[in-house]
Amino acid sequence: MLKEWIENANYIVIFTGAGMSTESGLPDFRSSNQGLWQKKDPSKIASTEALNNNVEAFISFYRERVLGVKEFKPHKGHHILADWEKKGSVKAIITQNVDGFHQQAGSEKVAELHGTLQKLHCQTCGKEYDSEEYINKAYHCSCGGVLRPNVVLFGESLPQDVFQFALKETEKADLFIVLGSSLSVTPANQFPLIAKENGAKLVIVNQEQTQMDFYADKVIHHKKIGELLQELDEGMHQ
Ligand code: APR
Repeated sequence: MLKEWIENANYIVIFTGAGMSTESGLPDFRSSNQGLWQKKDPSKIASTEALNNNVEAFISFYRERVLGVKEFKPHKGHHILADWEKKGSVKAIITQNVDGFHQQAGSEKVAELHGTLQKLHCQTCGKEYDSEEYINKAYHCSCGGVLRPNVVLFGESLPQDVFQFALKETEKADLFIVLGSSLSVTPANQFPLIAKENGAKLVIVNQEQTQMDFYADKVIHHKKIGELLQELDEGMHQ
């Protein structure tokens, strides 16, 4: 049935979370067995408070994550979504992920709600750097300021232009597909509800239960995203 919905839809918007990148090798945050937040408290490490008062721990945590996004690559599922955009069926991707894998796989219309680990900027003068700096253990700007990743930290608001773009795309969707998110972080988790309120069919693909399953027209649990996208993609080429 999902295959038919995809084939008959006019405006498909994809919404991805960390579950989209676990098959690339990156950990997610809340999976019962391996999530990052099972071991660390996000408010203590992924926050402005940590950046200002615990900068060594902050930098070592983010250097680990930068190493991950530089070492691992998009998987087949990312490439299928990029292919569906080229074919005109996927119109936009709204992602909570900061790995840049959708763009690396070729997707063009991507709203990075939580920013990106691919870039850093100076906390003092704002100058931008590639996150390779962290890999080379270069943590300061030429002005002397501390370099931090271009990600939205707990305690910070989302980039307004990206948020507005994601809102406009969500309101145009007639099929809104969530891939790999527990939908537990606001305001990102409002987009599936806004799509639903605007008359879209809502599909949630997630290994575990999410907080929004109740609102979905279709929920697919216990299926890996990569596998599902490959099945759908094969089915549609016949
Ligand atoms: N296939 C399907 N689902 C998967 C897969 C997979 N291969 N791998 C993991 N999942 C599911 C997990 O069961 C989990 O429920 O993906 C979900 C990921 O949820 P989270 O770890 O909470 O990640 P996410 O929803 O993206 O978190 C949102 O929280 O910490 C902040 O800024 C961070 O963007 C992140 C936000």
